Amino acid sequence: MLSEQERREIEAEFPHYPTRQALSIDAMRIVQKHRGWVSDEALDDIGELLGLSRSDLDGMAAFYNLIFRKPVGKHVIYLCDSVSCWIMGCPQLSDHLTARLGTQLGERSADGQFTCLPIVCLGACDHAPVMMIDDDLHLDLEPAKLDAILERYR
Ligand code: FES
Repeated sequence: MLSEQERREIEAEFPHYPTRQALSIDAMRIVQKHRGWVSDEALDDIGELLGLSRSDLDGMAAFYNLIFRKPVGKHVIYLCDSVSCWIMGCPQLSDHLTARLGTQLGERSADGQFTCLPIVCLGACDHAPVMMIDDDLHLDLEPAKLDAILERYR
C-alpha cells in the first residue's frame, strides 16, 4: 500500500504529465526514494493509482536502470564503465571494488552498506575514472583513493 506521503507526492505530479503512463517512471522514483527499492507489491499499488498493470510498469523499469527492483545497499555506487573511464582503469577499479566489498556488480554487500552498479558516462570524462556514491561525484580514482572514499560512507 502506498503511504499517504507517497500518494500525495505522486498525485502532485499529475498536472506535469500529459498521461499517467508518462508519469510512471517518476512515480517509481518517488516510491524508491522512500523505500530504497520498488517491490512487485509497490508496482501493483502504483499501477492502481495510475491505471497501469504491473507488467506495464515492470517493462518500463527494465529500460531505466536507476529503478531498483530488488533491495540495494544503504549507499549505491555507480561506477562509470564508458570508454574514457574504461581506458583509464575502470576494469581494475571494478575488480578492486568488488573484492573490497566481497560482492559482484549489481549485488548488495553482505553488510548491507553498498551496492555497486555499472553506469554509462557520468559526464566527467576529463577526470576518468569516475564514480558516484549516492549523489556525490568522485573523480580521478585509483584503488587507494577508492578505499579512503569508501571509509567515509561506512
Ligand atoms: S566515460 Fe566515464 S565519465 Fe565519461
